[in-house]
Amino acid sequence: MSKKIVVVGPGNIAHAIVSRWLQVADAEIYVLARSKTYLTKGWRPREQQAVTFDQNAVTNADMVMLAVKPKDMFTTLEQMKPQLSSASIILSVAAGITISQIRQILPNQRIVRTMPNICSEIGTSVTGISFDNVADEDKSWILSLMNLLGHVVEMPEHLLNPMTALYGSGPAYVYVFLQAIIRAAEDLGIPPEHSRELASYMVLGASQKALIDNDKSLDQLIDQVVSPGGTTEAMLRVLDQLGWQDIMHQALKAAGEKASQLGAVPSRI
Ligand SMILES: NC(=O)c1ccc[n+]([C@@H]2O[C@H](COP(=O)([O-])OP(=O)(O)OC[C@H]3O[C@@H](n4cnc5c(N)ncnc54)[C@H](OP(=O)(O)O)[C@@H]3O)[C@@H](O)[C@H]2O)c1
Repeated sequence: MSKKIVVVGPGNIAHAIVSRWLQVADAEIYVLARSKTYLTKGWRPREQQAVTFDQNAVTNADMVMLAVKPKDMFTTLEQMKPQLSSASIILSVAAGITISQIRQILPNQRIVRTMPNICSEIGTSVTGISFDNVADEDKSWILSLMNLLGHVVEMPEHLLNPMTALYGSGPAYVYVFLQAIIRAAEDLGIPPEHSRELASYMVLGASQKALIDNDKSLDQLIDQVVSPGGTTEAMLRVLDQLGWQDIMHQALKAAGEKASQLGAVPSRI
């Protein structure tokens, strides 16, 4: 018999995950909403059939996934607690909220904390995951679900905040990078109808090479592209002069600090 999954909060990440699971997971999936703002989040008519406003939907769920903003997490947990069965696995994707914070409200629950990214929608997320009090059989089931969203790495919980900053937010900085390439491409005369396609395939190809050639350092991979006096050298010189590595480092550090602060939202615990 199919297992029952209830996703609480029909926002952006819930949509990415649910739209993928509806296509490839063997499960009965419900999405608990509290307002109709989900209609602005890209839910297609077929996917909207999974959306419910009935708080009792969480009853008898094999797994309840919490996909609300960190600031809404504690109210949401308190609201659903009366309907929740102690047999339900709780899986949180909320940035910065720790397993022990969830456990203070739900002391007897099996809890999983995970950090996927928006590429879950097409099965290309990179996802960090930590388990607490979860038996092997349940762990295998959760891992099989998360594997449908992309590449999964089990890790100690304290790494999930940096994971959030680097790889949860990561697609956004890749898109910023693509925007910069596309702007330059247009300045250099590449028509807009080609520039996004070319830039996206280039990032995809370079990333695949970094994965496949993992015995080579990134400096070695850079060296393979640079010819003395050539275009790459000219580009790298300007990036170096502008301190691009430092800019990226500072930006990612800010994201890391923010991820740690998110768990400190005002709560009743
Ligand atoms: N976006 C990402 O790429 C990403 C990636 C990894 C993890 N996350 C994490 O996922 C969580 C959600 O992020 P998001 O970007 O998807 O946010 P979002 O688009 O704002 O979605 C949050 C949703 O939760 C709903 N909600 C809040 N309280 C609720 C309740 N008690 N019952 C039912 N629904 C409730 C909100 O409904 P209303 O519209 O009615 O307020 C909204 O639809 C965050 O904790 C974030 O850290 C996000």
